Amino acid sequence: MSALRNARNLAPQSPGANNMNIPKIAFFDAKPYDIEFFNSVNQDFGFDIKYFTSRLTKDTVAMANGSDAVCVFVNDMLSSDVIDGLLGTSARLIALRCAGYNNVDLRAIFGKMHVVRVPAYSPYAVAEHAVAMMLSLNRRIHKAYARTRDSNFSLNGLIGFDMRGKTAGIIGTGKIGKIVAEILKGFGMNILLYDKFPDNSFAKLNNIKYSDIETIFNLSDVISLHCPLTPENHHLINTAAIAKMKKGVMIINTGRGKLIDTLALIDGLKTATIGYAGLDVYEEETEYFFEDFSNSVIGDDVLARLLTFPNVLITSHQAYFTREALTNIAATTLSNIKAFFENGELANEICYKCGAGTCMKKETGKCF
Ligand code: NAI
Repeated sequence: MSALRNARNLAPQSPGANNMNIPKIAFFDAKPYDIEFFNSVNQDFGFDIKYFTSRLTKDTVAMANGSDAVCVFVNDMLSSDVIDGLLGTSARLIALRCAGYNNVDLRAIFGKMHVVRVPAYSPYAVAEHAVAMMLSLNRRIHKAYARTRDSNFSLNGLIGFDMRGKTAGIIGTGKIGKIVAEILKGFGMNILLYDKFPDNSFAKLNNIKYSDIETIFNLSDVISLHCPLTPENHHLINTAAIAKMKKGVMIINTGRGKLIDTLALIDGLKTATIGYAGLDVYEEETEYFFEDFSNSVIGDDVLARLLTFPNVLITSHQAYFTREALTNIAATTLSNIKAFFENGELANEICYKCGAGTCMKKETGKCF
């Protein structure tokens, strides 16, 4: 019973809740690779995981009944109506198996159900993917690959530039942004950092400077986005920002799609203000990313337009996708769930008050 004690502290047990010691997890949006890595790591935890291929929506939320926790990913939208539905099931914990939580209405859930996440699983995976996109776009590897496969060995149109001596602007210098800065410094690039909360000791240690965002826009040859999506930075890269950038700038986004106003990006690409765009995330990715539409017609005209540019490289929210990251994601997610059901501290809990430091986590180990 102890396993469920915590859940019952929050609300009376729902009829659907199980009465066994082993917590049940309803796992939404399960892909074969999730199942492989979670089953492997779960050998050390012994949870009863039920995998659903469906995303968590207001139509599928009833599938959480009978579970003690739901496990969700970036495109499971926990809007207030989905949360209302979830509160009517037996589930008492939301375990995000990702770092970002812009898909959860944290105000709507506060005080009703705890939300835990995986704050870091492999910042190296994401940073290295961002750099892979830079190098691919610069040296046109995506074009060269297709060309030589077609026995076309011409070099016309494949000219790149030396990264050494160019300026890279890193927006968001948390775990991922710092690694990108270090890698690009290794290339001999000039690095400019921008963060709402600068880490001056990192800058000093690496002999790199923070600057304001205007300077990043004005001087960078490559701009890479590594901040979370917040209401404040929605469409950070918009028409006005693009107008300030160097002609031919490269923009890389492995952060979140809505950091960029995609229509403004398309305008920038059409006028050649933007020379290259590497997008691992896209504003409306929920509809398409992670799924196979190769036999369908893409109904999203904006995405379809992006796919026509030779200097745009899109990957499908793939930056995190390494063996190391998948192992860490499974291990941290299951540890978070274990901590909850053993009434432990929820070190990885998040709430809307965390940012302001006004939640109770420091005092009680939980946000509320
Ligand atoms: P982090 O929390 O370590 O760092 C984020 C940094 O952004 C912090 O230093 C913070 O002060 C800064 N920041 C916050 N608001 C800002 C603003 N308005 N302007 C400038 N900087 C701001 O996060 P981490 O692990 O480095 O991840 C960054 C983001 O990358 C995540 O929030 C997530 O959205 C995205 N991500 C994408 C993945 C992918 O597969 N494409 C995988 C993992 C994360």
